[in-house]
Amino acid sequence: MESGRIQNLSTDYNYSTVPTKILNDNRLSATAKGILAFLLSLPKNHNINKKDLPKYFKEGYFALNNAFEELVKHRIIHKIEVRDKKGHYKGYEYIVHEFPKKRYGDQKKVIPNRSIRKSVENNSEVKLVNQIFNEDCLVTMSKMPDEFIDMVLTSPPYGSIRHYNGNNKFEFEKIAVELTRIIKTGGIIVWVVGDEVKHGSETGTPFKQALFFKERCGLRIHDSLIWNKNTCTYPAKPNGLRYSQCFEYMFVFSKGAPAVVNLICDKPNRWAGTTNFGQKTDRDENDQLVPVKKFKPIPEYSPRTNIWRYVTGNGYSTEDKIAHQHPAIFPEQLASDHILTWTNEGDIVYDCFAGSGTVLKMSKQHDRKYIGSEIVKDYFDLIVKRLSICPYSKSTL
Ligand SMILES: C[S@@+](CC[C@H](N)C(=O)[O-])C[C@H]1O[C@@H](n2cnc3c(N)ncnc32)[C@H](O)[C@@H]1O
Repeated sequence: MESGRIQNLSTDYNYSTVPTKILNDNRLSATAKGILAFLLSLPKNHNINKKDLPKYFKEGYFALNNAFEELVKHRIIHKIEVRDKKGHYKGYEYIVHEFPKKRYGDQKKVIPNRSIRKSVENNSEVKLVNQIFNEDCLVTMSKMPDEFIDMVLTSPPYGSIRHYNGNNKFEFEKIAVELTRIIKTGGIIVWVVGDEVKHGSETGTPFKQALFFKERCGLRIHDSLIWNKNTCTYPAKPNGLRYSQCFEYMFVFSKGAPAVVNLICDKPNRWAGTTNFGQKTDRDENDQLVPVKKFKPIPEYSPRTNIWRYVTGNGYSTEDKIAHQHPAIFPEQLASDHILTWTNEGDIVYDCFAGSGTVLKMSKQHDRKYIGSEIVKDYFDLIVKRLSICPYSKSTL
């Protein structure tokens, strides 16, 4: 069997997953499925070579080689041709992901010389902070150490209305697992997402995603908020089937208890200042009503509810005209409200689907550090322009 390093890029949790779609795939032999399960179960960074596989299996050399090639053929394991900078062939490398990645065409890798390799070192803060990257967010996150980010505030592509130059599909599971890895204990992920109707039913994708973050990534669903829009793209007709769709979900996931919570108190109280209207009562341990002795005056403002309403559309979501070149921006005020609620000054905010850069701009304005990934070059250029005209409010960062 030819040699070739195999890299297991699955998660480093204490379990590994083989997607049922692969287990049920009749085109794959049981040996191929066994090899896949074995590779995914190895500890991360375990150094295994293709030629060593016969050491771990009872099957013979040919059976194993054929089964391995089945996995390569079905693009479950990616085969990468390695060449040095002079173009000399150096063999193959193999990559296996817990959640299969789609790749088209042959993969090639050029080994950098030693001095270049050396430069990919730690000091992530200096290299990543206050930067925007024109690449797949999985690539950006692969440069981040564990527990690096204070808050992720993002809105993934959803539905089939927007296309983002063909980037309306993304590897949800892989990204969710990576986001979980890079946030600090106490860190927050705000996931702003809507649903769409397909074949007569809402897809339920936002709920599936929320449950994946909870049940597979181990995060808490700390809060679920609604972003209520003042307008809707397709208003309901009297003879229609559904009411006008005018909201998106804003799931707030946390790694353990949130480190920062500054609730926004902007709900005016009608009875502000009152201390003694009526006799306030409470129930004692026997469920009997007893008068409450101390009753603080009602404050002028209390925390708002979990339904946040914003006026959206051209000129309302932002005053930056260029931002509207992006088809799906969310209001600056929405980003601002989450940033102020879940982070403090100097914290690092990451948007893995940066779009027009709303989150990055508002982070900058509130003196948070920011990192963004945007895969489409035109949107990336737009963000660079938008950020260049937005100053920090202080000169500390
Ligand atoms: C819903 S939009 C985000 C809009 C953003 N919240 C704003 O206010 O401008 C999603 C963005 O994610 C980008 N995108 C899709 N897949 C991506 C990926 N794998 N990595 C980075 N960006 C991606 C799309 O190009 C699109 O611009």
